[in-house]
Amino acid sequence: MKIDILTIFPEICRGPLSESIMGRAQEAGAVEIVVHDLRDWTTDRHRRVDDEPFGGGPGMVMKVEPFFAAVEELRAEHTKVVLLTPQGTCFDQAMARGFSQEQHLILLCGHYEGVDHRVVEALVDVELSIGDYVLTNGAIAATVVVDAIVRLIPGVLGDDQSVEEESFSDSRLIEGPHYTRPREFRGMEVPEVLLSGHHAKIVEWRRQRAEERTRKNRPDLLG
Ligand code: ADE
Repeated sequence: MKIDILTIFPEICRGPLSESIMGRAQEAGAVEIVVHDLRDWTTDRHRRVDDEPFGGGPGMVMKVEPFFAAVEELRAEHTKVVLLTPQGTCFDQAMARGFSQEQHLILLCGHYEGVDHRVVEALVDVELSIGDYVLTNGAIAATVVVDAIVRLIPGVLGDDQSVEEESFSDSRLIEGPHYTRPREFRGMEVPEVLLSGHHAKIVEWRRQRAEERTRKNRPDLLG
């Protein structure tokens, strides 16, 4: 898989995407991630990427030309173009799974008050938001989306079981609690059942805790 990110703040994406599992996924050749500076597709002396909104109003709007020049240069036959914007569809695990099967993604990061709408109409396949809050720009959102997608590419996480069992993978429950050594810390004991070696009881205990935790933290998932 290949992922191109277009942003005016490439360094925001580069650090997180070169560490740990994301770094290793690229070294192993499971994914090629290229973070581009959108200003490389400007043609004026000031490398301008924004301008005042027609009709007035606060803030600046990102210009249409650099996005068109960049996408036209980078896209291939099977490319999905995604715009990160707080006005997009809310990103979730099912979407991450779908994107992890694509050959090529181009992620466009917005900034300022928004992006000239001709970009959305003519270039973008999907507008994505990572949640109902507003970030200063789309680069952090793109990084989040890439992380969620890349870890689902087969082979990237050594243990495919952990992907299948984790929260949001299929059921309506989030994951229950986990414990590791020591068995006792400041008087807090690891639940006895987890030390029992009784597999069926452990599975049932985990299901109950998952249900409790979902009811407390995410009642919306229970409908
Ligand atoms: N840009 C600014 N806020 C955003 C959000 N919540 N999701 C995606 N892109 C954004």
